[in-house]
Amino acid sequence: MNNTIKFLRKKVSVLPEIGLILGSGLGVLADEIENPIKIPYNEIPGFPVSTVEGHAGQLVIGTLQGKQVITMQGRFHFYEGYSLERVTFPVRVMKELGVKTVIVTNAAGGINENFTPGDLMVITDHINNFGDNPLIGPNDPDVGVRFPDMSTAYSKKYISLAKQVAHQLDIAIKEGVYVGNTGPSYETPAEIRMLRMLGGDAVGMSTVPEVIVARHCNLDVLGISCISNMAAGILDQPLTHDEVIETTEKVRENFLSFVKEIVKEMN
Ligand code: HPA
Repeated sequence: MNNTIKFLRKKVSVLPEIGLILGSGLGVLADEIENPIKIPYNEIPGFPVSTVEGHAGQLVIGTLQGKQVITMQGRFHFYEGYSLERVTFPVRVMKELGVKTVIVTNAAGGINENFTPGDLMVITDHINNFGDNPLIGPNDPDVGVRFPDMSTAYSKKYISLAKQVAHQLDIAIKEGVYVGNTGPSYETPAEIRMLRMLGGDAVGMSTVPEVIVARHCNLDVLGISCISNMAAGILDQPLTHDEVIETTEKVRENFLSFVKEIVKEMN
């Protein structure tokens, strides 16, 4: 960690206040950053290296809507073979650099039958279905408590802000519970029926570990899912990563204006 922070502090003069983690197909937001400093993950000491298609794999640091931001263009996934501790290392790095708030985004399958591919969903809560937790192991009390509270993991203040911004921009948004699964296989129809009974509205393969770590170190969290497809068994068609990327590309403009306006209004 010390090497990572030393390296990044040398690269940037102004420290970021907002961290953004960009999901599959949503990395375009980083292209909106002014005076960007781009640092590929494989050049950063201590960083894992991302492998999946659709993920560029770099930090982009600079100004967005007048705010200093640090963006992960591409994230690390458990299904790539990293431990959850490695997956969430960049969140720890953001905290060390002075970040106060993280916006976590992802592509997700819609479990809620009132959803449509292309919808944006503000995450109100999550279900950790990874069967693992990034905080397992020794706890450093200087970083966070042993048993962190998760009862308001997603900041109520930022959920309201997101809803207000959506209204202003006339973007219809949904809200709901995100279920984090390990992947990499998509779910079966029976699993989707189970997750619906458990209260899930959308399902994906990320976000939950990063949010647990963010809350552990007391970062405020806003989560946004792009519903890239209906989850397995809802429509009579197979699920593909191509469909996920195609839908996220279609909602690009809405996604960009939505998140940019939120960043502008955050305080
Ligand atoms: N299931 C799991 N992860 C996903 C999905 C899905 O349907 N769509 C995008 N990521």
